[in-house]
Amino acid sequence: MAEFVAILDFGSQYTQLIARRVREHRVYCEILRHDVAPEALAAHSLRGIILSGGPSGVYESAAPRCHPDIFELGVPILGICYGMQLGCEILGGRVVPASGRREYGPTTLAVREAGELLAGVDDGTIVWMSHGDRVDELPVGFRTLASSANCPHAAVAHAGSRFFGIQFHPEVTHTPKGRRIIQNFLYRICACAGDWSLSRFTEEKIAELARDLDGADVVCGLSGGVDSSVVALLLHRAIGPRLHCIFVDNGVLRAGERAEVVETFRDHFKIDLHVADAAEEFLDALRGVTDPEDKRHRIGHKFIEVFKHEARALSGLRYLAQGTLYPDVIESHSPIGGPSATIKSHHNVGGLPAELGFELVEPLRYLFKDEVRLIGQELGLPDQIVHRQPFPGPGLAIRILGEVTRERLRILRDADRIVRDEMERFDAYRDIWQSFAVLLPVQTVGVMGDQRTYEHVIALRIVESTDGMTANWVYLPRDILSRVSNRICNEVAGVNRVVLDVSSKPPSTIEWE
Ligand code: XMP
Repeated sequence: MAEFVAILDFGSQYTQLIARRVREHRVYCEILRHDVAPEALAAHSLRGIILSGGPSGVYESAAPRCHPDIFELGVPILGICYGMQLGCEILGGRVVPASGRREYGPTTLAVREAGELLAGVDDGTIVWMSHGDRVDELPVGFRTLASSANCPHAAVAHAGSRFFGIQFHPEVTHTPKGRRIIQNFLYRICACAGDWSLSRFTEEKIAELARDLDGADVVCGLSGGVDSSVVALLLHRAIGPRLHCIFVDNGVLRAGERAEVVETFRDHFKIDLHVADAAEEFLDALRGVTDPEDKRHRIGHKFIEVFKHEARALSGLRYLAQGTLYPDVIESHSPIGGPSATIKSHHNVGGLPAELGFELVEPLRYLFKDEVRLIGQELGLPDQIVHRQPFPGPGLAIRILGEVTRERLRILRDADRIVRDEMERFDAYRDIWQSFAVLLPVQTVGVMGDQRTYEHVIALRIVESTDGMTANWVYLPRDILSRVSNRICNEVAGVNRVVLDVSSKPPSTIEWE
């Protein structure tokens, strides 16, 4: 069993980042509930525990706490921010509430004693602080390794219990020596060997699926996005022809999307792919509908109906495979609920497995998005799918404001193809989270030749983001913007104006709906 580091989640916005950093050091870790039972931890090849930060004060009665016996497991523990305060309090120290001496942002660290934790971290290095409360009195047996102007105990260690605490955040990039500190904890303190890698994960997962799905047939809804594509490839490697994929053509796909999926999965990977040709049905269901929630609802409903129909036509299925990712799993057990809980995923077939009598298979449930992309690359998934931008389940329907008609779909699809075409040539394309066209429900006056026109408006939405929860609009180089605009006005019949969306999220959402 691979060595394992447990990260107990006290609700920090950075908990997932800690996990990313640990895995970057080739150590497998999982984020667990803050009050996980010590016996559950002892069941793994546990090398160390990290207590995350969190928004509470340890002296509050409702503050999340860890089980005190985790300090008896005999593995080193690193407390970060709230995690440090909690550890110090449990071990007999005193934490004082914020008293106006809050510390946010970059702070200079005075390193007194590097020890194992701060080896290679220079005196005067910058660290990222974000705290009000702080440890005021250290428990017996503790040493202070470093301090800052507002925090006398910014890094501490207790030799006996092997507890280490840091008030600042090593997991954020604003702490330049943060990687080194995490590396010190993992390798010098926990004596990890660094035996984990994505290739190892992939090989083990394929072997595990082959074993666990022994003889059974599996159905997988393929959307053309990277998550479901990687699920399909992993399963195909594990069970070959016993994997059956369903792709629903809902009529609101981007140009060329269906052909790309068929070519990649049926022709190239030789996967048993069933295409549900349901465009007419979806467009019928959308006729006359302008309310965005109503659109979403009808599309979600129809999807389930069509998927069910297709799946029933395949006999002998026992499992349904889904591309659930780790952030969704974590959110469901975070003490404060999580940001990605609000991402809409109407094309997820929630509730379906039980209804159809299927069991769920979620091979990606411990992975982050960028890890999934790397596995995709390793399994030979074409670049355009590996690096595909997120595309909503309800597709172009929520980018057409007002009624979805065939003609309006044609306009948006043509404009969207041009945006995609030009963006893919842009050097920094991979830094862009999403770039797409939106069809507005207004017409404006224009002039073409000597003719006055009265036609549609396309808005360009181009944003950068790390998770879709917040986003900044991107100001592309002028030449790209003008090429996109010229091409749309010249090549897309029915459009005479292109505008640029310069709003960030919040307050605006990414999709216009
Ligand atoms: P908003 O518009 O809420 O979008 O800022 C945040 C992110 O979520 C994507 N999105 C969806 N993804 N099904 C999905 O799989 C959906 O129904 C859906 N709606 C929005 C959106 O593209 C953006 O990346």
